[in-house]
Amino acid sequence: MNLDKRNLLYRGKAKDVYATSHPHQVLVKFRDDITAGDGKKKEIMGLKGYYNSLISAKLFQILEDAGIKTQYLGLPEPGYILSLKLDMIPLEVITRNIAAGSLLRRFPFQEGQTFKPPIIQMDFKNDEYHDPMLNDDIILALELATREDLEIIRETTLKINQVLKDFLEERGLLFPDFKIEYGRDQDGNIVLGDEISPDTCRFWDSETCDILDKDLFRKGESGVIEAYQKVANIILDEKDKKKWNLDF
Ligand code: TMP
Ligand code: ASP
Repeated sequence: MNLDKRNLLYRGKAKDVYATSHPHQVLVKFRDDITAGDGKKKEIMGLKGYYNSLISAKLFQILEDAGIKTQYLGLPEPGYILSLKLDMIPLEVITRNIAAGSLLRRFPFQEGQTFKPPIIQMDFKNDEYHDPMLNDDIILALELATREDLEIIRETTLKINQVLKDFLEERGLLFPDFKIEYGRDQDGNIVLGDEISPDTCRFWDSETCDILDKDLFRKGESGVIEAYQKVANIILDEKDKKKWNLDF
């Protein structure tokens, strides 16, 4: 496959964004770099970008099918996603269904406690300031988003949570929490961007409670790539696997 890949526009910690021949489309390369602690802990893990692109493409397609506006346009080949160009909003929108991770370090919740309705938390995407938690007034004062934007972001995020949680639970995965990011398209509409993968979500096996995401790397445990592969194997259907000649 000949990729429509022009100049590098942006290099993040785990993805590169390239211009394409189309002014409103970008090609996102999912790299094998894996980081934690604002990039302080860093490794290269073969096939991570490959699995994450397959997982993210599938989950974005499911959201598109559920009527959510996303930047996803297609997967030209594993490792690369073609996306609508967005002006990204530096907010990490985190949804929590089950208490885990930093929430347990910061607040007196019980491990495994469920949240109904889910908690939506917004952090400032800024490594220099260590992604601090925000509130609406700080978001408005920083001019990251308007009140109307925040309404749309909250409503869309709750819908995304419901769609993904239902899809994953049907396949034997718990979905304790996840982080998403939004951007604005050329008309100023708020659109879901970035990725949804084991780098940005918690996925637990609902029978064994095994961790199947980047927490393994954060904790220095083994089996990171095997976990990502397992998630891909669980969420991709036979058609996807045939198309990409995948033999997990
Ligand atoms: P936390 O419990 O560490 O705050 O993480 C909440 C969710 O956000 C979890 O699903 C992992 C994801 N996440 C990111 O995508 N990027 C980050 O930098 C961090 C810290 C968490
Ligand atoms: N995304 C952050 C980093 O790369 C931290 C994390 O995911 O734990 O440093």
